[in-house]
Amino acid sequence: MSIDWPVLKAAALAAQGRAYAPYSDYKVGAALLTADGTIVTGCNVENATFGATCCAERTAVFSAVAAGHQSFRAIAVVTTGAEPGTPCGICRQVLAEFGSDMDVLCFTPDGAEQVYRLSQLLPFAFTLT
Ligand code: THU
Repeated sequence: MSIDWPVLKAAALAAQGRAYAPYSDYKVGAALLTADGTIVTGCNVENATFGATCCAERTAVFSAVAAGHQSFRAIAVVTTGAEPGTPCGICRQVLAEFGSDMDVLCFTPDGAEQVYRLSQLLPFAFTLT
């Protein structure tokens, strides 16, 4: 089944609107498409300690796992600024935890977008096997 990117992007944009980013003012929204077609969203949630901040992508993955999903097909990530930001290294590793490769669409509300495969963004992901 093909990926309905407009729907996934709309979910990411809605999540970006819920971002809590008073320190950086860099708002990020993510929408994760699970194997069964469910969309789970996340936003960045910052903290006064800075280090306790959680990125949008990890918020989405952790919410999905808590809801019983461990297989993912794609993620759409929307960032602030002129160029789409790509998931940080920690988020790439967290996405890679769930095995199969996936499409990663990074975009801005202004229309810039770029699609990657997770394996492009994180070749040689760490595994314990
Ligand atoms: N951020 C994300 O949500 N995802 C990323 O992949 C990179 C960075 C957030 C964390 C922080 O709230 C803000 O963007 C600035 O780093």
